[in-house]
Amino acid sequence: MRKKLLVLISILMIGLLAFTACETKTAPEGGDAPAGDLPLIGVTIYKYDDNFMSFVRRNIEKNAEGKANLIMNDSQNDQAKQNDQVDTMISKGVTALAINLVDPQAASAIIAKAQAADLPVIFFNKEPSAADLNSYEKAWYVGTTSAESGVMEGQIVVDAWKAHPEWDKNGDGIIQYVLLKGEPGHPDAEARTTFVIQTVNEAGIQTEELELQTGMWDSAKAKDLMDNWYAKHGDAIEFVIANNDAMALGAIASLKANGFFGADGKFMPVVGVDAIPDALAAIKNGELVGSVLNDAANQGLATFELALNAALGNDPLAGTKWTFDANKSVRVPYVGITLENIQIAEDSYAE
Ligand code: BGC
Ligand code: CA
Repeated sequence: MRKKLLVLISILMIGLLAFTACETKTAPEGGDAPAGDLPLIGVTIYKYDDNFMSFVRRNIEKNAEGKANLIMNDSQNDQAKQNDQVDTMISKGVTALAINLVDPQAASAIIAKAQAADLPVIFFNKEPSAADLNSYEKAWYVGTTSAESGVMEGQIVVDAWKAHPEWDKNGDGIIQYVLLKGEPGHPDAEARTTFVIQTVNEAGIQTEELELQTGMWDSAKAKDLMDNWYAKHGDAIEFVIANNDAMALGAIASLKANGFFGADGKFMPVVGVDAIPDALAAIKNGELVGSVLNDAANQGLATFELALNAALGNDPLAGTKWTFDANKSVRVPYVGITLENIQIAEDSYAE
C-alpha cells in the first residue's frame, strides 16, 4: 500500500515538473547525431497567454528543430517565478539563455545569474535598459525600435482621417480619441503612446484625449475599458487607438455589442499594432483601419540564431543576416499595414 502511494506521488511530481518546464526534445536533422548532442538552450516567455508572444514562441521552436534542445518556460507574468526558472535551467546545464522578461526592469537580476554561471543571455521583446545590457559582455537584445511602431500607427491614423472627413463627428477638426495602453513601463507601450499622438499632431491634426488607460496588452481588459468609455462618452469618441491588436480587437468586440460594424452601418475607426492573423481578418472585413507588423517570425528567428551561436561559443551574429546597433541590439523593422499591403503581414504570419 505504502509502495503504491509512493509510486503515485512520484508520478504526480514528474507530471508537475513536466507541467512547469516543458523540455522540447527535437529530433536531429538527418538523424545521425543523437538529440542529446544538440546544445541545450533555456527559454522563458513572460506569459504564454499573450497573443503576440505565442507567435514569437512558435517561431523560436520551429527554428530550433534539429538544431537545439529547448527548455521552454511559461513565466506566467510572475518575475519571481521567472527567476526560479532561470536557476532551474542553469542547474540543468543550459549553455545559453533566451529571456523574455516579465518586468523589463528585472534584467539585472537575470544578468547576475547568467554571469555567475558564465552563460550568454539573449533578451527579447522586453527591452532591458542600456545600462543593464552594457553591464555584462555576454548580454544582447533582439527586438524592435519601439518608437517606429508609434510613428507608423500615427501615419495610418493621419491618412485615414484625411480620407474620411465624416469621421469628425462633431465637425471641430479635432480627433477626440481614446487610447488603450500596453503595460506601463514597457518600452513598446511608452513609445507607441507618445509617438502615435505626436505623429498625428505633427501632421497638423489636433487631438483631444478623452481616455487613456492601460489594458495590459489584453483583449478582455480592453473590452471592459471600451464598455465603460462608450457608456460614458458615447459618440463623442471619434477614434480608438490601441498599443496592440489584442486590445484593438477587444475594443472592436465591445463596439460590436454597442451596435457598431453591423447592418445599419455604424462605424468607429480602430487601429492597432502587431498585425497578428486575427487583426488581418478584421482589416479585411472593415473593422480595423490598420495595424503595424510586429515581425514575430524574424524576431523569433533572430532570437534563436543568436542564442544558438552563443550556446556554441560563437560570435552571436556569426553566419546570420543580423547586425547590432550601438546598443548590442538587433532591431527588426516594423511595417505599417492597411488593406493595400496586407499581403506583407499575411506572408510574415504564414506558418
Ligand atoms: C506586442 C504586444 C505584446 C508585448 C509583450 C509587444 O511588442 O506588440 O502585443 O503583448 O510585446 O511584451
Ligand atoms: Ca472632432
